[in-house]
Amino acid sequence: MNEQIVILDFGSQYTQVIARRVRECNVYSTIVHFNTPAAQIAAMKPSGIILSGGPSSVYAPKAPLPDKNIFNLGVPVLGICFGVQLLAQFLGGKVEKGQKREYGKGTLTIKDKSCALFSQLPKSLQVWNSHGDKLTKLPNGFKPVAVTENSEYAAIENRAKKFFGLQFHPEVVHTPRGKEILANFVHGVCGCGKNWTMRNYLEQAVEEIRAQVGREKVILGLSGGVDSSVAAALLHKAIGSQLTCIFVNNGLLRAREADVVQEVFGRNFKMKLQYENASALFLKKLKGVTDPETKRKIIGRAFVDVFQAATKRAGQAKFLAQGTLYPDVIESVPIAGNPAALIKSHHNVGGLPKNMKFQLVEPLKNLFKDEVRLLGLELGLPKEIVWRQPFPGPGLAVRILGEVSPSRCEILRNADSIVVEEMKASGLYYKIWQSFAVLLPVRSVGVMGDERTYDYTIAIRAVESQDGMTADWVKLPYDLLEKLASRIINEVKGVNRCVFDITSKPPGTIEWE
Ligand code: XMP
Repeated sequence: MNEQIVILDFGSQYTQVIARRVRECNVYSTIVHFNTPAAQIAAMKPSGIILSGGPSSVYAPKAPLPDKNIFNLGVPVLGICFGVQLLAQFLGGKVEKGQKREYGKGTLTIKDKSCALFSQLPKSLQVWNSHGDKLTKLPNGFKPVAVTENSEYAAIENRAKKFFGLQFHPEVVHTPRGKEILANFVHGVCGCGKNWTMRNYLEQAVEEIRAQVGREKVILGLSGGVDSSVAAALLHKAIGSQLTCIFVNNGLLRAREADVVQEVFGRNFKMKLQYENASALFLKKLKGVTDPETKRKIIGRAFVDVFQAATKRAGQAKFLAQGTLYPDVIESVPIAGNPAALIKSHHNVGGLPKNMKFQLVEPLKNLFKDEVRLLGLELGLPKEIVWRQPFPGPGLAVRILGEVSPSRCEILRNADSIVVEEMKASGLYYKIWQSFAVLLPVRSVGVMGDERTYDYTIAIRAVESQDGMTADWVKLPYDLLEKLASRIINEVKGVNRCVFDITSKPPGTIEWE
């Protein structure tokens, strides 16, 4: 990890996207808080610095401002949106409130083709804007290099100092060639090679894990989800039989889930896998409980108890491995109105109590989810695991409204299998964020053959999302919906009606509980 780009976060909802785009160019990137001292940034030996966008105005009294010495490090700087306004403000230009907010699609016309940022790009580009303030005077040494309909300083440069500013967002998909602009910055301007690949990372991570762990034992809670699965495979490669994976069956898993985990990790990878079948215990504790929060708390506590007892049985271990990802460790800059504030309070019920005396091994903590998936493939994990849709820790319980009884689990498990099967057959399963069945507590009248039925309703949910924070419902084709409904009603005993959930998030949540 020699070369890296440091990104200063001023609270933009796109900061992580910038970091991901840079990494997609095979250059490592790190996000730091906007007020990180310049000396600390210098110590990171960045090849370049990117100033993110942000919701503030540079002239607002509480505007987030960087250490001004970052402009004296002799390192190329790219300011994006709020970042370009900062650049201007700090270096002697002028920023004012724009007459018109510039929001949405725009056309960028490049005036100076010799600007390194636009190398190999056409003269005219579609870009995405989102700003109210406007640069009205350039700092000394700067030249405009591109314009939009509404902005004569849409792209600016100080070629001698290698300072650049973009008023639009090159990182978002609505700027279709934006990634090439960022690639021009990191390779062309900053001179970075293409060293950040998961193959390189794998070798380095194995070394680091061995150095941290030595000959000690490591325990990992394997859920079968992408993160813990990749962490398990990586640790196994690094330390083999020093790793014990604990898999807890809470009775709320989908069909065949426990089998797949045992097959892949136990039989194929030959990992030490401790299988804890605690189904009866969880279902006993959930008996008669219908309140969603209570259900989640019961499941969370039971998990901790079962896991703790299991670690004792696994023998003395010094380390506990976790599949923590980079977005979990970035110190986020709070943004007013950020949807993150709206997340359900009950996430990550699998969290372990502080009193468990382990040291942590977190081999994925520098990676984004897309990178974890690539690493999983590099490690030889099957597609079914690497591209698995997210599945909540409390499992089917949050998709069974009302009481979670063994028979209702069975109904949902059968309906869910049909949804997964048909979504896979349609080719949509791996293209969308999540698709699943929900069992409602309402019964309604139907007729099957000559008989009147009075059975439960299944709701089908399919959503598109980037990170689970917001989501749109997916317009599944009618023939697929028809097949799903017909199969569920015909094949799942206890169900006589199917409905399709057309709620987005917000105002709905993805899971029903
Ligand atoms: P909601 O329902 O809050 O879900 O819109 C957002 C995303 O988070 C997943 N989810 C969970 N994941 N433990 C988890 O690990 C949980 O308790 C939990 N609850 C919801 C959900 O499946 C969706 O992807």
